[in-house]
Amino acid sequence: MEQLLVALDVDTVAEARALADELRGIAGGFKIGSRLFTSAGPAFVEELASRGDRVFLDLKFHDIPNTVAGAITAATRLGVWMVNVHASGGSAMMRAARTAADEEAARASRAAPLLIAVTMLTSLDQGALTAIGLNSSVAAQVERLAALTEAAGLDGVVASPQEIALIRRACGPRFAIVTPGIRGAGDAKGDQSRTLGAGGALAAGASYLVVGRPIIAAADPRAAAERIAAECRGDGCVS
Ligand code: C5P
Repeated sequence: MEQLLVALDVDTVAEARALADELRGIAGGFKIGSRLFTSAGPAFVEELASRGDRVFLDLKFHDIPNTVAGAITAATRLGVWMVNVHASGGSAMMRAARTAADEEAARASRAAPLLIAVTMLTSLDQGALTAIGLNSSVAAQVERLAALTEAAGLDGVVASPQEIALIRRACGPRFAIVTPGIRGAGDAKGDQSRTLGAGGALAAGASYLVVGRPIIAAADPRAAAERIAAECRGDGCVS
């Protein structure tokens, strides 16, 4: 299923490769985040990308513009399909990331990766927002950061399922919305607070779903992925 991105949140290349091999064909892409990247490095990103898998490099860069631009250039060189930064890094940083992705892609004669910004981590709730000194509602903060992202020329945002509808309204139909925090009725929430089922997230307007533990921690990951794909059918999923 095109829109299903599976988070390979494991420690070793052997585990990640086994999951990718098992899920290829049902997953629309694989997300490599800070856990696997820190233990396995860029070689595994290149391995998946060079065999034709869509790789979402989820390192959520958040630094000064020059440093983020360098990281995005390196990610583009690895052949990733999607990469992200934190929107709260600000407009200048996001614009520098956009330029870096486009220039490196042109140099390498390949398509630029989808460049996405994290609005607010899906593990944060209203109390957590207040605790870091932000006196706005979760919804207002997400909407503000999504608008900033769009204005900086990025392709979309990462946002919780509960904010999809408001981002769609604010940023229009072509803006990509990548949604983690997907949980079915029987799934453990873990550290996620703002969750929704896969079918509900797509019906609300998500472009891509990021699913980790409900698939990779299942006794049968492929069957779990098939179940999620089945839940989405009828809600406009491309399978
Ligand atoms: O296991 P689970 O389905 O909760 O995995 C969600 C994945 O999405 C994790 O890899 C997490 O790092 C990532 N993510 C998130 N919230 C964001 C951005 C990324 O949960 N805002």
